[in-house]
Amino acid sequence: MAPSLEAAGLTKRFGEFTALSGLNLKIQGTKCVGFLGPNGAGKTTTMKMFTGLISATSGTALINGVDVSRDKKAALASCSTLIETPEIYPSLTPKEALSMLCEIRGVPATERSKRIDEALGRVKMQEWEGRKVGSFSKGMKQRVNVASTLLSDPDVIILDEPSVGLDPRGMSEVRDIVRSLGNRLVFMSSHLLAEVTEVCQEVALIDHGKLIVYDSIENVTAKFAGGSGAVKIGFSRAVDIQTGTAISKLDGVTSFSRVNDRHVLVKFDPKVLSQEKLFETIAGMKAGAQTFESESGLEDAYLSLIKETL
Ligand SMILES: Nc1ncnc2c1ncn2[C@@H]1O[C@H](COP(=O)(O)OP(=O)(O)OP(=O)(O)O)[C@@H](O)[C@H]1O
Ligand SMILES: [Mg+2]
Repeated sequence: MAPSLEAAGLTKRFGEFTALSGLNLKIQGTKCVGFLGPNGAGKTTTMKMFTGLISATSGTALINGVDVSRDKKAALASCSTLIETPEIYPSLTPKEALSMLCEIRGVPATERSKRIDEALGRVKMQEWEGRKVGSFSKGMKQRVNVASTLLSDPDVIILDEPSVGLDPRGMSEVRDIVRSLGNRLVFMSSHLLAEVTEVCQEVALIDHGKLIVYDSIENVTAKFAGGSGAVKIGFSRAVDIQTGTAISKLDGVTSFSRVNDRHVLVKFDPKVLSQEKLFETIAGMKAGAQTFESESGLEDAYLSLIKETL
C-alpha cells in the first residue's frame, strides 16, 4: 500500500532562502506522528506543501500515493488540514459554519447534516451547535475548527499546532480529541513535547529545513536522550529543603529540580541507580512521596538533537 504521507526530495525556497531542503519522509498506515522542530524549522511550510497551499520548488508531496501538485483534488479527497487556525465568522453558529464548509468541500447535500452532527459530537460541541461562535472561548472555537477537519471523514489529518493559545483545559481537550480520532493518520506539529509524548507514537524532527530523525518515540528517546532516566515525584506536602538535598545527593542522581512546591523532577543515571531503587529510597524518606511518574525522555532527546545541529 502507498504511504499515507510521503515527501520525496521536497524542497521550498523563498527567493535565496531555503525553508525546506530535500525532505524525504514516508509515513505508513494509521497512527499519530508528531512533527517537531524549532521556530522557523520548516514545519508549516512542509504542511502547506502537503495541502497545496503553496507549491514546492522541487520534489514531491504525496498523500496516499497521489502527488499533490499533479492532482490536488484527488490527493486532498482523503485528507483534511488545520493550518494557521482560521477565524470562524463570529456571527455564525457552529452548524452554519460547518454547513458552509460542507458546501465548499462538496459534501453531498443529503449527507451534510449527519456529517456535521458526527463531527460536532466527536469534539463534544453538540450542545453549542446553535449558539454564535463570537461568544465562544478560544478552546471552543478550536474544537469547532477540529470538527471542520472531520466533515469529510478523512483518513489523513494534518494539524499545525492544534493546541496553540489554549489554556490547560483546552489543551487537554484537544489532546483527547486527537487521541480519539483513531484509525487515521494524524500528522501534527507541536512545540509541546509532553503533548506529543501523550498522543503520538512516532516523531519526525526537522531543523533548518532538514529532517534530523523520524522514528518511534521509544527509539528516539533510547538513542538520543543520553540514556538518562527521569521521574516526576509528587508529594502530599511541600518538599522541604532537607528532603531536596537528600534526593539530590543520592548516588546516581544527576539533576534535581522543583516543578512546584509539591513536585520535583529527578534525573538519574540508570547504570548507577535503578528506577526501582530510587523509588524505594525516596519512599523511605517518609517525606510524603505520593506519585512517581516516569517522564519520557523526548525533551532530552530533542535538546541533544537540536544542539548537535547548531
Ligand atoms: N512566504 C514566505 N516568504 C519568505 N519566507 C518564508 C515564507 N514562509 C516561511 N518563510 C520562512 O521559512 C522558514 C520556515 O518557516 P515555517 O513557518 O515553515 O517554520 P515553522 O517550523 O512552522 O516554525 P514555527 O514553529 O515558528 O511555526 C522561516 O525562516 C520563515 O521565515
Ligand atoms: Mg509553524
